[in-house]
Amino acid sequence: MSRGKFITFEGSEGCGKSTQSKMLLERLQAAGRKVRLIREPGGVAISEKVRAILLDKANTAMNKECETLLYMAARAQLVEEVIIPELEKGTILLCDRFLDSTVAYQGYGCGVPVEAIRSIGLFAAKGLQPDLTLFLDLDVTEGLRRRGAQLDRIEMRSMEYHNKVRNGYLSMARQEPGRIMVIDGALSRDAIFDLVLARVEKTLSQ
Ligand SMILES: Nc1ncnc2c1ncn2[C@@H]1O[C@H](COP(=O)(O)OP(=O)(O)O)[C@@H](O)[C@H]1O
Ligand SMILES: [Mg+2]
Repeated sequence: MSRGKFITFEGSEGCGKSTQSKMLLERLQAAGRKVRLIREPGGVAISEKVRAILLDKANTAMNKECETLLYMAARAQLVEEVIIPELEKGTILLCDRFLDSTVAYQGYGCGVPVEAIRSIGLFAAKGLQPDLTLFLDLDVTEGLRRRGAQLDRIEMRSMEYHNKVRNGYLSMARQEPGRIMVIDGALSRDAIFDLVLARVEKTLSQ
């Protein structure tokens, strides 16, 4: 049996990751494909517990190294329990955020050395890389406006922080144009989905 494909959605808060990943899940299911959607941090019991610590507004003392390692810990468990076994079964695995989020938020956003994040990331993900990453690029103010009033511990950070994250994603996309596709998140849901689907079909046919 051939290995599945690993497709990730990335971008700032409110850019449309959940919307587009669900639309893609439904479309691929309707086409009879073996497909599964998971989200990071979380997805399995241990990782969901780590997620709760990460997003808890009471954890004001958490430093950036602790934060980085917790994201990696949640990821390591998800990779072991879900991502690798599903890919081995031939599943198309859609993931709402992955390692690029840690590079963008803790690296470009918080100033943790990007090279350190990449090497810990290789360890946590056992060298696994997405086959395709769809980065939905959106103005930060518009993204937070779409999210509304209920912001979690990470979302509450300053505009300057969120702009660093966005620019981090843009530089990663310039460094890896073959893997990371930049999509204008200000387009309509359907216009974005047409672009997503065209690129995903190309990846699935490879
Ligand atoms: N292309 C779009 N144009 C306008 N609003 C959108 C678009 N895509 C998603 N939304 C809305 O914006 C909000 C945030 O979208 P969501 O998919 O949850 O973003 P994310 O998962 O990236 O944080 C939701 O209310 C969603 O319905
Ligand atoms: Mg979401």
